[in-house]
Amino acid sequence: MATTSMAEPTRRDFLYIATATMGAVGAAATVWPLISQMNPDASVLALASSEVNLAPIEEGQIITIKWRGKPVFIFHRTKKTIDEARAVKSGDLPDPQPDEARVKKGHDQWLVLVGVCTHLGCVPLGHQGDYNGWFCPCHGSHYDSSGRIRKGPAPTNLEVPPYEFVSDTMIRIG
Ligand code: FES
Repeated sequence: MATTSMAEPTRRDFLYIATATMGAVGAAATVWPLISQMNPDASVLALASSEVNLAPIEEGQIITIKWRGKPVFIFHRTKKTIDEARAVKSGDLPDPQPDEARVKKGHDQWLVLVGVCTHLGCVPLGHQGDYNGWFCPCHGSHYDSSGRIRKGPAPTNLEVPPYEFVSDTMIRIG
């Protein structure tokens, strides 16, 4: 006979549900319209600000959420990834900006970006391209693990949206 404890969601299930409710999805862009449909009130996602719980996002993982109708990438960076981004001389970049200026002090592992290519607006793909960051397949722009443009026609870095940490594991975007 089945016990009730078997039917109870595990902590991991709960985290997944909580994440999905906020509209967060995995790295695959194709999953994302499905999740949007699952949200009973999509208009909530269009509010000026949205809080995102970072706790379920594993090291090395990029998730995509929707903010003001746009995709926003949240990348939980490893130390190696951060070191790589910081080893680059920012003066050599097409749109010079140090990695430190693109994250919040003390939360250097979290990179938050508007997921819209600055060339003509396609959604770049995470964990791809020549710089361990994003690749935009529309015309071949490569962004690094700080979201900075490194190669291709995009003129500027991926935009960092306004956001703040409301706790160690929660950000508010907008
Ligand atoms: S829209 Fe991304 S490279 Fe053109």
